[in-house]
Amino acid sequence: MMPSENHSHFSASCSSVTEEARAKINLALHVTGQRSDGYHLLDMLVTFAGHGDRLSFAPSQTDAFTLSGRFAVTLAGDGGTNLVLKARDLLREAVGALAFPVRIHLEKNLPIASGIGGGSADAAAALRGLMRLWGATLPKETLAALALKLGADVPMCLESRPLIARGIGEKIEPTPDLPALAMVLANPLKGVSTPDVFRRLTTKNNPALTLPRTGDWIAAIAAARNDLEPLARQLVPEIGEISALLQASGALMTRMSGSGATCFGIFASMSAAEEAAATLHGERPDWYFQATGTVSGGA
Ligand code: C5P
Repeated sequence: MMPSENHSHFSASCSSVTEEARAKINLALHVTGQRSDGYHLLDMLVTFAGHGDRLSFAPSQTDAFTLSGRFAVTLAGDGGTNLVLKARDLLREAVGALAFPVRIHLEKNLPIASGIGGGSADAAAALRGLMRLWGATLPKETLAALALKLGADVPMCLESRPLIARGIGEKIEPTPDLPALAMVLANPLKGVSTPDVFRRLTTKNNPALTLPRTGDWIAAIAAARNDLEPLARQLVPEIGEISALLQASGALMTRMSGSGATCFGIFASMSAAEEAAATLHGERPDWYFQATGTVSGGA
């Protein structure tokens, strides 16, 4: 470290840190009601992909934020509205004097506004990474409350392991028995606005999610639903096409994640998923296909 950077508050724990921001996948999403503030009550079975964005954090003279990766360009113009910067500012407020200036780099590998929680995962990774960099300790509940201020999906992204989420997403229960799954994520690269999809809901009191704790998870997931999928298909007809392409390439089941437009196909093995992603990429080179293994609940 150069002498000029040798601020007394840069402790030995301040070398740079990195965090994975794993894609969030809604294996099931049932809309069960609506709160008086308009937010919807949901039952969700959620897992996280090996694939995602990557963030790094390093001490700096002044705050800085840089971007790289396939989808960096789609975020480049958003100034200070990025959720990563909002997460930084919110955590800084909470930890006070510990929060020295920081250089944050975001490698944006996930398509934006795509139903796999890229922005939420980035915000959660920023909270985790900056806690480490700043050497801060906050009670788990305080951090979860900060996360919820950033968005309904941010608390679950803090966990980044298989779980059931209820409420608007903040009531979280791990599902340790959910196995790792071989998947292809597929997106026609048309952004979907989450509020636009929710606004199209007419039935808000659908049956809750019932899932086994053990047994045939694929069959149980296949029997569940994403109540937002028919609505998102009205906005982006390509979702139907992408789902059919995944089925035709050997997926055991397919479904849309979140408010779309990303769909996932579950495959029998990672090699089957990788082969399908390569074939699909050949057929539609302008779309996004990513083979990925999800994290297992027991990990
Ligand atoms: O919390 P977040 O900013 O991710 O939510 C984006 C929008 O999605 C909300 O403004 C709301 O319109 C809708 N939403 C909802 N019910 C949820 C989560 C999100 O209606 N549980």
